[in-house]
Amino acid sequence: MIATALTKLLHIRVPVVQGGMQWVGTPPLVAAVSNAGGLGILTALTQPSPEALRVAIRETKAATDKPFGVNLTLLPTINPPDYAGYARAAVEEGVRIFETAGNNPGQLIEYFKSQGCIVIHKCTTVRHAKSAERMGVDVLSIDGFECAGHPGEEDIGGLVLLARAAQELKIPYIASGGIADGRGLAAALALGAAGINMGTRFMCTAESPIHQNIKDTMVKATEQDTIHIFRTLKNTARVFKNKVSTEVVALERRPGGAEFSELRDLVSGARGKIVYEKGDPDYGIWSAGIVLGLIKDIPTCEELLRRIEREAEDTISGISNMVKPRARL
Ligand SMILES: Cc1cc2nc3c(=O)[nH]c(=O)nc-3n(C[C@H](O)[C@H](O)[C@H](O)COP(=O)(O)O)c2cc1C
Repeated sequence: MIATALTKLLHIRVPVVQGGMQWVGTPPLVAAVSNAGGLGILTALTQPSPEALRVAIRETKAATDKPFGVNLTLLPTINPPDYAGYARAAVEEGVRIFETAGNNPGQLIEYFKSQGCIVIHKCTTVRHAKSAERMGVDVLSIDGFECAGHPGEEDIGGLVLLARAAQELKIPYIASGGIADGRGLAAALALGAAGINMGTRFMCTAESPIHQNIKDTMVKATEQDTIHIFRTLKNTARVFKNKVSTEVVALERRPGGAEFSELRDLVSGARGKIVYEKGDPDYGIWSAGIVLGLIKDIPTCEELLRRIEREAEDTISGISNMVKPRARL
């Protein structure tokens, strides 16, 4: 067993978190990850209202007696969702672990901490990590450039970002982005992390709620099959490379670029949702990371976490065997 500050704080067996995933982080997947010994996280904004989130939390509780969390993602949007309502609903339903992500999380963090909750804040720079640390979060989730979704605009890969986190942070942090196996977990631990956060790998599990054809598409895909959209809008997102995302990037690269209003229909969340429901990978935009290249199967969460644990232990003991005692003169 690998015991870390994360497993001790969250009372989980394996130091692996399933990060919030729009349309994917639903009760069946969350309960499966938690039952397998990791931390499953429900994605609040996948639910259409705070009341619907209450129902999803109750459904998850009925399927697992293990700890799980709720993700609240602060989006750059003109009409923000009822964040306070979602947060209150989750706290009232007894959720005690939250993953926050996105801009200006101060008020949310303050609220969760005032309610005695554990907050894992996900961010992509050491500067933001330090500021969240000052706000009193318990754990930082450091998302490197490899990640699915929003890697920020600074393009720092996980290797340097985590080593910088080791230099600068006082509280535990986990490594996110680009991890799909036990070697990744061992590497994260070597870089001072207390565990890992994975998104893309968990999409491609038996309990993930997305269409079988999308899972099969992910197994066939390689590390070349993602693309960054919205670079020109300074809201970069790593998504699966398909007809729609390629068209978005072509529009952004036109002389004079593209306004968001010209891209809105192509990138709509509703179309992305239909990808997962109907199984046509070309129908809309959907997030995926370069770990696509590492994914070769569709295991249950239990199989996946057992395998990651075993591989990490083997990797760590293999490395330990390289260390020979120094000869004494
Ligand atoms: C399909 C999908 C949807 C995601 N949606 C969200 C989200 O709504 N909020 C969030 O904070 N992160 C979101 N993420 C990012 C993940 O929580 C995690 O940080 C990321 O996937 C880590 O990189 P990896 O995919 O290489 O493991 C999403 C990732 C995926 C793959």
